Amino acid sequence: MIKKDIDWGNLGFGYIKTDKRYVSDYKDGKWDDGRITEDDTITLSECACVFQYAQTVFEGLKAYTTKDGKTVCFRPDLNAERMMTSAERLEMPVFPKERFLDAVRQTVKANEEYVPPYGSGATLYIRPFMFGSNPVIGVKPADEYQFRIFTTPVGPYFKGGAKPITVRISDFDRAAPHGTGDIKAGLNYAMSLHAIVDAHNEGYAENIYLDPGSRTKIEETGGANIIFIDSDGNMVTPKSGSILPSITRRSLMVVAEKYLGMKVTQREITLEEVAGGAFKECGLCGTAAVISPVGCINDHGKEIRFASGMEEMGEVTKKLYDTLTGIQMGTIEAPEGWIFEID
Ligand code: PLP
Ligand code: COI
Repeated sequence: MIKKDIDWGNLGFGYIKTDKRYVSDYKDGKWDDGRITEDDTITLSECACVFQYAQTVFEGLKAYTTKDGKTVCFRPDLNAERMMTSAERLEMPVFPKERFLDAVRQTVKANEEYVPPYGSGATLYIRPFMFGSNPVIGVKPADEYQFRIFTTPVGPYFKGGAKPITVRISDFDRAAPHGTGDIKAGLNYAMSLHAIVDAHNEGYAENIYLDPGSRTKIEETGGANIIFIDSDGNMVTPKSGSILPSITRRSLMVVAEKYLGMKVTQREITLEEVAGGAFKECGLCGTAAVISPVGCINDHGKEIRFASGMEEMGEVTKKLYDTLTGIQMGTIEAPEGWIFEID
């Protein structure tokens, strides 16, 4: 496979148009057969439900070139399932799991020249999404939908890659108690846009959101879940009904326990205990973020510094990172069913 002439090592996390995308339309109560197209544009009524009432959900996963030259995806079945949950919550028709997997396969195959080579540090980000497409003016779900997948080659989500970042405790909420924080809907990200612009203006890489009910517990950031390593080298990660069930975090819990022999606990974590020094390492985890080490959390001017420091990824975080990426890139044997080969 001859790859595109792209400076893979210097890619950031941005959009680069690739050649092909997948499209399927939902009309009269059913999805059509779907197709690969070169057309990256969408023409819709000004009154389409997605524009008026933000009826849209999405997913994010990646394609990797393994050491032995295969193109693979990581646990796309979980993206398919999560998208079904997201769609149901917004009263959208589900795109069936087998169709989702087939669409991912077709889209990646059609853009294989954009899947970055092994060892380049880049990956092909895959963005499935779905939206209400027909005109709706009274508040109600659409009757017609479009499901699409496009791809874009990407580098690290945070500038500096593995260098620890500083994040701040946000005064804004991204989710409501009993709201939509646990699904992947565009509306949650719209909620976070002002907070991220403000955080960047203040020199922080991301916002940590507290639980919207009591504002005392750590939830997640705008685009990633959070993991902590305690003083015994074990993993602790927040439990909450208003955070996205990250596939990376769920995978890391297995990696920590089964590959690295760590104890893993998912429980409520208070800001107070984090400030009190309960943890020696902290990381943001997600498809885009992979694991991005956090060196410092700024809580309204008070710095919570992790023992791992601001220079390098903490020792345990590094082991988790190396094992996870080794599994994704085919240098470490994966648990059954985690690797989806694009043939
Ligand atoms: N939390 C939020 C708000 C996200 O946007 C993402 C990204 O998908 C994650 C967590 C991480 O989820 P995953 O590991 O499934 O990519
Ligand atoms: C992902 O990690 O796939 C996401 O959707 C997060 C987003 C901030 C890019």
